[in-house]
Amino acid sequence: MPRTVYVNGEYLPEGEARVSVFDRGFLMADGVYEVTSVLDGRLIDYPGHAVRLARSLAELDMANPIGAEELAAVFRELVRLNRIDQGMIYLQITRGNPGDRSFVFPDPETTPCTVVAFTQNVPDLADAPAAKTGFRVISIPDLRWDRVDIKTTQLLYPSMGKMMARKAGCDDSWFVRDGTVTEGTSNNAYIVKGNRIITRALGTDVLHGITRASVLRFATEAQFEIEERPFTVAEAQGADEAFSTAASIFVMPVVEIDGVAVGSGKPGPVAVRLREIYIEEMRRAAA
Ligand code: PDD
Repeated sequence: MPRTVYVNGEYLPEGEARVSVFDRGFLMADGVYEVTSVLDGRLIDYPGHAVRLARSLAELDMANPIGAEELAAVFRELVRLNRIDQGMIYLQITRGNPGDRSFVFPDPETTPCTVVAFTQNVPDLADAPAAKTGFRVISIPDLRWDRVDIKTTQLLYPSMGKMMARKAGCDDSWFVRDGTVTEGTSNNAYIVKGNRIITRALGTDVLHGITRASVLRFATEAQFEIEERPFTVAEAQGADEAFSTAASIFVMPVVEIDGVAVGSGKPGPVAVRLREIYIEEMRRAAA
């Protein structure tokens, strides 16, 4: 069954959906996106994604073409039409199609944004096999621009980072800037030392993860101490545990960094517990 996707107000079979060759998302990566996960056919952490989307758009001087409630209705309709029980919804909003290529932003009055959304079916999202073995990561220089707090579609370097990890026989890359870890290719990065969970503070050099916010809240409730500060690869290698978070992986244990086992070299108890808590709490709050 072909997927039904959403393009500018219409629900279309994926093979019939069209975006212009002049779309600024295509020509300039002039667009923002969000990935919202789905469990039991319901949206996970949706309000956070809606707030971050509005912020990304505002930072790029783009008008928000679709309100949070209307967008939630689109997401739910896509979940229904595509019979998604577990998976993700990808949303992209670009500065639209001005009918030609130019570095100058088009007038928003005459060039409406392009809004595209589609579902991705991931039947084992909650029960991901990778969570049982954990991610092996490599560290690579963070060559991204200085505003990665804006969730833009400029994902070439993160994509290259993923491929560098693959070539090294690993699962992901952690970016290093000025000697400390910023985040993973598409996730926030953490280490655990005793009762402390350490992750970089929010700034313009990391994405303000929606999963991060929820996981830190649950961790605080579970009596863990949170330390928001940079850490080095060496500190991570010597930590008790490490993990990554994102809407696509929830809480993913990290068991090896640059060939060095972290802790026991197996998913650690803190990461495993936080993953369980996150999934349980999110299932309860899903809407
Ligand atoms: N990525 N950091 C980066 C660079 C990311 O791309 C992501 C999400 C995160 C985690 O954010 P959140 O918890 O809100 O998903 C952190 C998505 C999942 C993606 O690009 O597929």
